[in-house]
Amino acid sequence: MQTFIENLPKAELHLHIEGTFEPELMFEIAQRNEIDLPFEDVEALRKAYDFSRLQDFLDIYYQGMNVLREEQDFYDLTWAYLTKIHKQNVLHTEIFFDPQGHTDRGIPFETALNGIYNALQDGQKQLGISFGVIMCFLRHLDEDAAMATLEQALAHKDKIIGVGLDSSEMGHPPEKFTNVFARAKAEGFHIVAHAGEEGPPEYVRQALDVLHVERIDHGNRALEDDVLTQRIAKSGMALTVCPLSNLKLCVVDDLKNHPIKKMLKAGLKATINSDDPAYFGGYMNENFGQLAEAVGLTRDEIATLARNGFEATFLPKDQQQALVAKLDAYLATA
Ligand code: HPA
Ligand code: ZN
Repeated sequence: MQTFIENLPKAELHLHIEGTFEPELMFEIAQRNEIDLPFEDVEALRKAYDFSRLQDFLDIYYQGMNVLREEQDFYDLTWAYLTKIHKQNVLHTEIFFDPQGHTDRGIPFETALNGIYNALQDGQKQLGISFGVIMCFLRHLDEDAAMATLEQALAHKDKIIGVGLDSSEMGHPPEKFTNVFARAKAEGFHIVAHAGEEGPPEYVRQALDVLHVERIDHGNRALEDDVLTQRIAKSGMALTVCPLSNLKLCVVDDLKNHPIKKMLKAGLKATINSDDPAYFGGYMNENFGQLAEAVGLTRDEIATLARNGFEATFLPKDQQQALVAKLDAYLATA
């Protein structure tokens, strides 16, 4: 099954580019920017990746991105991610970035965006990986800050396809961002939001009814509400599920208890993604592979998850179909 997964064409739809910052690259960039990391070495940093909830991770995630200063840093970070997923047969990726995690440190919006975007363009040319960029608002900050960030993004509509919502979920419900998401939608951005990772089903409902999301990032806790689950299933809306993230952030206590089969049985359009692979211990193939092993996914279930990934992209229909055709061609021979 592992070989089947490795060669399987895949799309990734839930990936924070700042969450791909591997300790080795972090130390390298820290050194060239003359920044002292509060960790002795790569080993000590990796040891700190032991989380019991989302906030534990976020504290270290924001500390890590502090090393990113120059456009080249953002380029190198993104390029490292692309070369990894290229080896994993990821054909398309829609990545998040957290502009406020940078602008709040005095790094210009354009420094981050251009570094990321230039690497993605090179990835498309040299590795054949198509892409989209989604910028996320940090939900622990207020709506005015999100609105100011959206205004900065308006000059870069050619580079940014959508807006999302991430960071500390509890106490920061989607409705806190009603106005900024309405404005983003009116400006033509795609809309997604993290909901139901730690937050209750009510946050998922708000993401649907107040923010008008087109995909739900995580969405695990929607399963606690049958009516909500049926509604999402009926609408065909995708959930971007992140198995190793769920394990590392204790959303599930054991990968064996991951609700992926329950999601599929409920008719939810679940997809598999890596979230913050440098922190959670694996990229796409590790997420597919370890989940498949833990819950005993069948070949058909794995193929469905991969198909859902392509069908849930924000690509135009013809490009989506071209990717699904690649998947079908693979399935016919594998
Ligand atoms: N959840 C919420 N915010 C985040 C995450 C996550 O998994 N990763 C980066 N920001
Ligand atoms: Zn996430």
